[in-house]
Amino acid sequence: MTKDSMLIAGNWKMNGLSAALAELQAIAAGLPAACAQADIAALVCLPASLLSRGAEAVRNSRLALGGQDCHFADSGAHTGDIAAPMLKDAGASYVIVGHSERRADHCETDELIHRKAEAAWRAGLVAVLCVGETLEQREQGAALEIVGRQCEAAIPAGAAADRLVIAYEPVWAIGTGKVPTRDNVAEMHNFIRQKLHRRFGEMGEKIRLLYGGSVKPDNAAALLSVPHVHGALIGGASLNHKDFLAIIAAAATLP
Ligand code: 13P
Repeated sequence: MTKDSMLIAGNWKMNGLSAALAELQAIAAGLPAACAQADIAALVCLPASLLSRGAEAVRNSRLALGGQDCHFADSGAHTGDIAAPMLKDAGASYVIVGHSERRADHCETDELIHRKAEAAWRAGLVAVLCVGETLEQREQGAALEIVGRQCEAAIPAGAAADRLVIAYEPVWAIGTGKVPTRDNVAEMHNFIRQKLHRRFGEMGEKIRLLYGGSVKPDNAAALLSVPHVHGALIGGASLNHKDFLAIIAAAATLP
């Protein structure tokens, strides 16, 4: 894959009131310059409360929008949850499933995440499925085993490049300013790539693998140039249009 198939994705998490739509518009407006000649895909996963207005605000731009979670059912008696068709209806084309914060805060299991990814597909959304080990698991030398198991259990049959993106987010790198070494990222992404290849054949080669966890403008080029890294999932630095656009510009200038 080349830099032209990169996806730079923001995850605003539980941040963003109406005033933040100006930031979203600034991201959309800055994209053509930041991408230069490269065909980089850009995405922001908004809180559900901002999706409809966000979609209005960035209409006619190349910025795609996503949700941050969906229920496994398409509708029904699930108070407080949001269904994939609702996200789609509100203007999303992607949805994150299995983020480590949801695994931790809401006890989400790989089996549940599997069903959420299928729900995303039924609604015509691209699922951005997150995997990643905790610090304790890495220190025990179990990172590959844990992520391997997450991939096996959470990724449904029928995965394809046009509807699945995998984001490797080491839990200990999220919001901490700590990042794995390039070698660690390369090892994990290569491992996931092999797994996808074994399970899905040639199609497995084409599924994008993002890195996430403390990606900032000053480390983006180093992380994005690691083999088998096809983009980034960015929390904190996606809340600020200058930082997010700087990361996109870093992706665009890679050879
Ligand atoms: P940070 O970029 O703030 O570390 O968050 C990463 C993340 O969790 C994106 O989903």
